[in-house]
Amino acid sequence: MNDDEIRLSDPEVRLEEEELEVSLRPRSFNDFIGQDSVRDQLSIFIEAAQGRREALDHVLLVGPPGLGKTTLAGIIAGEMGVSIRTTSGPALERKADIAAILTNLQEGDILFIDEIHRLGRSVEEVLYPAMEDYQLDIIIGQGPSARTIRLDVPPFTMVGATTRAGLITTPLRDRFGVTHRLEYYNAAELSKIAARSASILGVEAEADGLMEIASRSRGTPRVCNRLLRRVRDYAQVKAEGRITRDIARSALGLLEVDGEGLDKVDREILRLIIEKFDGGPVGLSTLAVAVGEERDTIEDVYEPYLLQRGMLKRTPRGRVVTRLAYEHLDATTPGTAGGQGREAPAAEEKLF
Ligand SMILES: Nc1ncnc2c1ncn2[C@@H]1O[C@H](COP(=O)(O)OP(=O)(O)OP(=O)(O)O)[C@@H](O)[C@H]1O
Ligand SMILES: [Mg+2]
Repeated sequence: MNDDEIRLSDPEVRLEEEELEVSLRPRSFNDFIGQDSVRDQLSIFIEAAQGRREALDHVLLVGPPGLGKTTLAGIIAGEMGVSIRTTSGPALERKADIAAILTNLQEGDILFIDEIHRLGRSVEEVLYPAMEDYQLDIIIGQGPSARTIRLDVPPFTMVGATTRAGLITTPLRDRFGVTHRLEYYNAAELSKIAARSASILGVEAEADGLMEIASRSRGTPRVCNRLLRRVRDYAQVKAEGRITRDIARSALGLLEVDGEGLDKVDREILRLIIEKFDGGPVGLSTLAVAVGEERDTIEDVYEPYLLQRGMLKRTPRGRVVTRLAYEHLDATTPGTAGGQGREAPAAEEKLF
């Protein structure tokens, strides 16, 4: 499989996209579309904390990649009117790393720890008293003369983000006052996100065209913004830059993103389970070998969306495809009777 094809629907951010992502990232709740319940709850907590002139309670944000966890952390800081210090689980290797960060915080500041499920045990233990009592235990000296001193840390708010809530230890999870789960976005929400991004990027787009992109974006704003840019390129070459429904359809057809937002790899996974494993159950490791992908990639990137679309099921004995998967593959197999799938692009049309 070619790398580029694999990555088109990858909800993880790519290096070359980071800068652009920052420019498209909503800065306030007003610009943050969807996730109504998370937004409503957070606004209340923020207002209440501000009323009491206290730091906001620690917040844990859980959800698949690209749904807005980092964005929300930034918005929380903005709405609270405080600074945000960003780090990540794997970056905090030693106790001293986290101690230095904690002692440099200002009162009320947000400490954002991305991939918090990847924190090392010893760093995590430093965080417990810091989160609970705003205290830091530091060991001075070594051997028998070593002693512990307690330092005060300014009241701060920890915002943790993770794609894998199950991997967070219970003591850490218990120290978060609130946990918010982000859900996949629906097409209407994604088309608003696409409209906002199009206007920031200065792209001319019709509502139908944006809806077409939105409905194939795997419920994920990051993927939606990426598809928007690819469709924009196509529109620029084929239609003087204007994104209409037909243009979006042809562009997405060329990119092999189908009407349900599944890409080549998604379909390959389903097809393998059907053809090689008789529809399942098949274990994750066996499936990963058959697809030629990492186990984690299947589990974090491909599977959540297939599960959410109801095409795949997890059972105690392994993964099983559903009737919807059979129907979908049938419909997207070129040349099948009644298939309303993509038309195969003509060779000279292969722009990407
Ligand atoms: N609710 C939203 N409204 C508008 N745009 C959004 C929204 N959520 C996310 N985005 C867009 O999607 C991009 C990805 O969001 P973000 O980086 O916050 O995801 P994430 O959950 O932190 O992903 P990861 O798990 O990979 O860190 C942002 O740059 C932003 O432009
Ligand atoms: Mg993030």
